[in-house]
Amino acid sequence: MTNIATVDVVAADLDAIAQAKGRVAVVIGAEGRLSPAARRLNRLTRGAVKRLVESDTFTGAAAGDVLTIGWPQGMQAEALDILVLDRRASDDALRKAGASVGKGLIGKDLLLLPGTLRDTADLVEAMVLRAYDYTAQKTAEAKQPGTITVQASDPDALRAAVAPRLSVAEGVFFTRDLVSAPANVLTTTEFARQLKDMEALGLKVEVLEEDALASLGMGALLAVGQGSDSPSKVVVMEWQGGGDEAPLALIGKGVVFDTGGISLKPAAGMEDMTMDMGGAGTVAGAMKALALRKAKANVVGLVGLVENMPSGNAMRPGDVITSMKGDTIEVTNTDAEGRLVLCDVMWYAQDRFEPAGMIDLATLTGAIIIGLGHHNAGVFSNDDGLCNALTKAAGAVGEGTWRMPLGDAYAKQLKSRIADVNNVGGRPAGSITAAEFLHRFVKDGTPWCHIDIAGVASVKAETTFAPAGATGWGVRTLDQLVQSSFEGKKA
Ligand code: BES
Ligand code: MN
Ligand code: ZN
Repeated sequence: MTNIATVDVVAADLDAIAQAKGRVAVVIGAEGRLSPAARRLNRLTRGAVKRLVESDTFTGAAAGDVLTIGWPQGMQAEALDILVLDRRASDDALRKAGASVGKGLIGKDLLLLPGTLRDTADLVEAMVLRAYDYTAQKTAEAKQPGTITVQASDPDALRAAVAPRLSVAEGVFFTRDLVSAPANVLTTTEFARQLKDMEALGLKVEVLEEDALASLGMGALLAVGQGSDSPSKVVVMEWQGGGDEAPLALIGKGVVFDTGGISLKPAAGMEDMTMDMGGAGTVAGAMKALALRKAKANVVGLVGLVENMPSGNAMRPGDVITSMKGDTIEVTNTDAEGRLVLCDVMWYAQDRFEPAGMIDLATLTGAIIIGLGHHNAGVFSNDDGLCNALTKAAGAVGEGTWRMPLGDAYAKQLKSRIADVNNVGGRPAGSITAAEFLHRFVKDGTPWCHIDIAGVASVKAETTFAPAGATGWGVRTLDQLVQSSFEGKKA
């Protein structure tokens, strides 16, 4: 797995600053007052720090901007970064500064001098999240992110604050690696193997093979995978950190490659469908984060792993298949496969675990990208309490969400002449009809959220948290939601 940066929290030591290699970053508030560390840097550089702080560049800088002095004299470091952050800097400013510095940390060490900054852990987290590079498919030896050494006034407190953030960052990197992996590498079998490995973290992991899925009646999920040589699987990951209360269930769409099936997608851009297991990747990363930080909650993650391929054995447009719930589904378009996978996994999760809440994540529709672009995931829910907690958690960690409507009128678009339901509802409101399809498989009384992450799981341009490519979107939101709404609820 791609390594996260090492974080080393130490006591303040002005004499170590001149010798630091790589980069040195010092926090200076907009008012320009110099901390002892900044004063030392000013002395070492013969006044360069003060000149910068008194310049128009500094007075014109916005919160979170980073001003760099290259190859500073009097120091071993190759760059001195001035982070323009007030003592009580906003989350946005901390993330902006953290991302600018984090980008430069692949193959480089950093000495961070936060002074009296209040939320240094947030700044460090932002750096760690941004210091990611997917190199698994390159033959050249990969450069690792360096060590971030933080000089803190209270090292024990900062260490305690940073530790859970690093657990979550490990989960995010796991998700990104899974989403970035090509489909010939991350087959359903390899995916399940990597999840099974998480047993070493104290998770209970069970892999259900095709025969077991057939006995359970998962005719919808199996129909999607039947055209592929890779076997379909459902993986169940249980984290029992709470008491005997009902768990939160996280469900992920894990289509390791989506060709569209017989309703084949056009060639242009089809390669992007290696990320169609993004929901499963997010669930896997969240489970990893919860296990690593030993969350005091019961959470179960279930992922449906399949490959959607055309072949002599593939499901056809017009086929009628039977879900585990018992509803028959007319498959008008084999490219609307994600909902067929999710409906069986969701039904199984409710049947087996009677969860206190259920959240599914899926790269479900292109239509959500038309609606919300790459800045917000679409959230659909039958429960205001769970939905508000989820969107609040997302807001707190800086991940965008936007609630979308459900409604009977949309569900009606899914009427089938010959079966109980059609798997597609026409072009209008494609993301909502997809959500209404899933809604049919939610039992009365189960609080449920569906998150369509098609626009946010993997992006072409860098974001604050990640370089271009897989983002790991949702791992931090889910972790935050567990923390805010499910932890410490021992029955
Ligand atoms: N995996 C796709 C959705 C998708 C599109 C994810 C772009 C990420 C980026 C999904 O399986 C799909 O093909 N959906 C169809 C549904 C349609 C046939 C009703 C779509 O969105 O076109
Ligand atoms: Mn599809
Ligand atoms: Zn798909």
